[in-house]
Amino acid sequence: MKVLVATEKPFAPAAVNEIRTVIENANYELVLLEKYSDNSELLGAVANADAMIIRSDKATKEVIDAAKNLKIIVRAGAGYDNIDLEAASAKNIVAMNTPGQNSNAVAELAIGMMIYIARGLFNGKAGSELKGKTIGIHAYGNVGKLVGNIAKGFGMSVAAFDPFVSAEAIEADGVTVYNSAEELYANSQYISLHIPANNETKNSINYELLNKMPKGATLVNTARKEVVNEEELVKLMNDRNDFKYVSDIAPNNAAELEDKFEGRVYFTPKKMGAQTSEANINAGIAAATQIVNFLENGDTTFQVNK
Ligand code: 3PG
Repeated sequence: MKVLVATEKPFAPAAVNEIRTVIENANYELVLLEKYSDNSELLGAVANADAMIIRSDKATKEVIDAAKNLKIIVRAGAGYDNIDLEAASAKNIVAMNTPGQNSNAVAELAIGMMIYIARGLFNGKAGSELKGKTIGIHAYGNVGKLVGNIAKGFGMSVAAFDPFVSAEAIEADGVTVYNSAEELYANSQYISLHIPANNETKNSINYELLNKMPKGATLVNTARKEVVNEEELVKLMNDRNDFKYVSDIAPNNAAELEDKFEGRVYFTPKKMGAQTSEANINAGIAAATQIVNFLENGDTTFQVNK
């Protein structure tokens, strides 16, 4: 069995070693395609792979159709908006993610970006503290829960909105529950986004919602750039000079935002949230193990195209 690890943004070397161990212990062969610059390289590599591990790499219909032997794709990470699930299902290919494995790294980055923007991008001038402020966690999944937990350590009040998690479970963490996004935004100086990118959420973070936030508001996006309505964000930041935006991966209109709102925006040049050795090792081992468990025992835990 050939297991392709296709990562345009490579895992830490220690994680690749761990993945190799899991794969070779199962008597499979590891094929590594890192830092590829052209999709044709991915198309060529996937052609004879039985399994594939990816990160934010795009498993499009074209990629899936080019794979003659592929049985399983594992997205080593949480969001699987980069896999064409319909195309995978049409070819009976199992698609999985590895939920929770890189969450701590993303949560730490969300807090780090909050501090960075609160301190004026470390420009030497007086900034503000997180202590005493309220953070609204928009979607209380693996990452959201960790962000809330760390924020408490900074002396922040933590609130959340998540229609898919019971109020009891959120309240058990000492987190205030709101029943709508509107209420959450109206009561939070910081909003940390942890919603997936799908047809319902794309562009859903719009002017109306963001404008509910109190004075001195900051939106922190370590989820997906697609969930923010970029045009409406420009309008909002024009209308409100108190509003700040930090995002882990530049939005499509980054140049415009950086030009118009200098000091009020910050974007990572490449998605950094899950980019720690620890997260790479956790997600990499989980992905490799899930592949072995599926190919050996038919285990479909974590399948996302059931
Ligand atoms: C995820 O969905 O797990 C994160 O966005 C990580 O993406 P990455 O593996 O490309 O860093």
